[in-house]
This record gives sequence, structure tokens and C-alpha cells, in this order.
Amino acid sequence: MAKKDPWRIGVAGLGTVGAGLLNLLSERPRFAPTGDQLSVTGVSARSRSRPRPFDISNLPWFDDPVALAASTDNDLFVELIGGSDGPAKVAVETALKAGKPVVTANKALIAEHGQELAALAEQHGAPLLFEAAVMGGTPAVKMLREAMVGDEVEAVAGILNGTCNYILTEMEASGRDFAEVLAEAQRLGYAEADPTMDVGGFDAAHKITILAALAFGCAPTYAAAEVDGIDQVELLDIRLAKQLEYRIKLVASAVKSASGVSVTVHPALVPLDHPLAGAGGPLNALFIHGRKIGRIFIQGPGAGAGPTAAAVAADIADVIAGASRPVFQAPAKSLKPFAPVVARRQVGRAYVRLLVKDQPGVIAAVSETLAEAGVSIDSFLQKPVENAGGVPIVLTTHDAREDVIGEAVRRMALLPAVTQPPRMIRIARI
Ligand SMILES: NC(=O)c1ccc[n+]([C@@H]2O[C@H](COP(=O)([O-])OP(=O)(O)OC[C@H]3O[C@@H](n4cnc5c(N)ncnc54)[C@H](OP(=O)(O)O)[C@@H]3O)[C@@H](O)[C@H]2O)c1
Repeated sequence: MAKKDPWRIGVAGLGTVGAGLLNLLSERPRFAPTGDQLSVTGVSARSRSRPRPFDISNLPWFDDPVALAASTDNDLFVELIGGSDGPAKVAVETALKAGKPVVTANKALIAEHGQELAALAEQHGAPLLFEAAVMGGTPAVKMLREAMVGDEVEAVAGILNGTCNYILTEMEASGRDFAEVLAEAQRLGYAEADPTMDVGGFDAAHKITILAALAFGCAPTYAAAEVDGIDQVELLDIRLAKQLEYRIKLVASAVKSASGVSVTVHPALVPLDHPLAGAGGPLNALFIHGRKIGRIFIQGPGAGAGPTAAAVAADIADVIAGASRPVFQAPAKSLKPFAPVVARRQVGRAYVRLLVKDQPGVIAAVSETLAEAGVSIDSFLQKPVENAGGVPIVLTTHDAREDVIGEAVRRMALLPAVTQPPRMIRIARI
């Protein structure tokens, strides 16, 4: 990038992250290691009159973020609006087509349109950077895009949604059920009014899709992710898992094998002594497995104005320093979508919990159902916690194909003594 003095920045989106960025830039306008001066020369949001935690009265205002992206009054466009489509996408496309560097925190946009935007960026010689899109202030994107390129990454797995992690942590700590803790998280501003993206696992799926693309040099293929959220996680299972020395976490993982790439998000049991089990509250955490490097573990804030703005600023510093790598690990046109490996055909262990009538022969019937399917039992929980809806039977299986365990669980539901549909939760392989 040619030397500019100052660097003129357009910021679209003045919410949590946009506000954090404007504060950071006003406090440290020369934060970039190159020492260049940075100056905000245009801002855009929905409402000009909304009270903001900083003064925007002296900043040129754009009603339309696309006009800001096209304006020749800025050299670098920062998109902090959000959403996979709509104004965020059009504005980013507009800036890239003008050859203008773009920094965004928008995981939905990158996970769903990453390849076409990368192609546009490369065609017009404009960097497209998105460190803040995954794990907020914790540097996962640069880790994979830069630090790990000398190795072959075999898997990435972790906790990528702070809202879900907060809810699960609170359910365990306070003994309250999902709905109650979610309502409190909404009151405290930790969860959105419409929590579907978070609790449905879709936000984590966007993030793991991006990490998988960076890790394996594929096109981001959001549609190939298998997604299950935490909305069906019951307090009873959190308690029973703990008795078995596990903690339930929403685990996002991307694993490369000879047959392709599997990208999944689902609740999973993690051993209590595993570092992921120790990442509580809104924290994010990630394991990266490299063929030569081995296992790397990072943990930190996945959201919040300060941490996320710091990640955006790190990308701005890269633009100023002249960063020019392919957006993913190879030229955009050569990227292939993931060849998805269907998770249900994968082998793993599972936790199964049933509620049954207290009558003789039930355990034998359950064991028989699993044996008929060829699934062997690893352990039965001897004295499960009391529960009003029936007597809990809890078991863990040895390795078996997920769909085979699933079918056995469906057959267990038909046993006369079973009072509610059984719950199956995978045991994480991390
Ligand atoms: N919050 C986090 O901790 C975090 C962490 C990592 C990544 N991210 C990502 O960062 C991005 C921004 O998130 P956020 O939490 O800062 O969102 P937010 O608080 O909801 O702020 C969104 C901003 O975009 C503006 N906006 C919405 N529609 C617009 C439009 N059509 N034209 C112009 N401006 C528009 C809003 O304007 P008004 O203020 O006038 O309503 C608001 O200022 C998202 O992609 C998100 O996924 C957020």
C-alpha cells in the first residue's frame, strides 16, 4: 500500500464494535506499528440522532453505507453493520470494486459469501481482512492464516459462541433451566432479543466455517456445516454429565480426513479436566491440531466492544503495513468447497439418558436394544439424580457410528417403560 498521511478511514456501523473502534482510534490515532496517523473521515449508521458513547458531530455523516464505501474521502472501509446480505454486503463489494481495503467483523458475510468477496478483493488488489469475525479479540484468524501456514492443519475445535457458553455455565452454576438463564442473559445484554443465531448454533457455524476455510484452504462452505444448538439442553443432563465427570459445551469443530472435511456444531460432553471444560462464562476457546506443531490451545474474549475493536484495529494495522496474502490460503478462484463428511456416519462415543418407570427389567431391555444394534455400553451411571418425570437411566457407549447409536436410541423410545424421548449427546473427541 502506498504511504498515506493520514490514513482516512470510513466506518459503517456504530454499534458495540463501531463504538469500540471509534474510542480506540480517538485514544490512540497512531496505534499502528508503522506510526501512521489515522483519521476517521466518514461514518454511517441507521440513526444519526441516536445517543452514542462518543461525539460524532464533527464526523462526516453518510445515511447510506454504500455511499461511504464508494466515497473518495476515505482510503480504508470498515464494515461493522453485520448480516450476511443487505447493505453490509453491497457496501463491502462497492469498496472492493473501488480497490479499497476492507476490514470487517462480519462472520455471516464471510462464511456465506467469502469466496466471491475474496475473488473480488484479489481481482481489484484490495485486502479483505476479518480477524474480529471469529473469537472477537482472540486472534484465531491470524493464527491460521499466518502462523500455521508452515504446517498442515488437521483439525480445529472449540467454543466459539460466548452467549451459549455463558448460558451453559450459568445453568450449571445456578441450577436454573435454559429458558430462565436465557431470559436473564437477554436482560443483561449478553443475548440478543432474537437469540436464534446464538442458541441455534448458527453463529458458531459461521465462525467454524471461516476457520475451516483458513485451516484447510477451502472455500467457506456454510451450507455444509451440520448444526445443532443448545436450546434442547436440559439441566438434568448438565447435572448427570457432571456426575460422570463431564461438562456439556457447545463444541464447533472442523476435521479433515481422507474422505473430506466435517464441519459440525453441537452440544457435546467434554471431560471436566479438559481445557475446554475450564473455559466458562462468555469465554471462547480453540484447539488447533497441526501435523508438525501438534496441539495449540487459545482462549480469550470472543466478544465485547474493547476486545473486538482491538481485533479490527489489528487488521487496520495490517492494511497500513501492506499485508497482501490471499484472503484464504490460496487464490480465491482455485478454492474448492469442502467435500463434506456426513457427521452421522462418523464414529464416536455418546451419552444416552432415558426417563423410565421404576419397574424391573428396564435396564435389561435398554441393554438389549443397544446390543441388537451392535453398540456396546461403556458405563452405566449407578445413582443418577432424582427427577420428577421418571427414573433416569444414564449410560455412555463405546465407539460406534453416530447413526447406529441414533437408531438404537429411537428404538429405546418405543420401550413401554420409557416415559419421554431419550436424549443422546455426543462425547467430544478433542
Ligand atoms: N458485538 C460483538 O462483540 C461482536 C464480536 C465479534 C464480531 N461482531 C460482529 O461485528 C458486527 C457489528 O456487531 P455489533 O455488535 O457492533 O452490532 P450492533 O451493535 O447491532 O451495531 C450495528 C450497527 O450497524 C448499524 N446499521 C444497521 N443497519 C444499517 C444500515 N442499513 N445502514 C447503516 N448502518 C446500519 C446500526 O445503526 P444504529 O446504531 O443507528 O442502529 C449500528 O450502529 C457484526 O457483523 C457482528 O457479527 C460483533
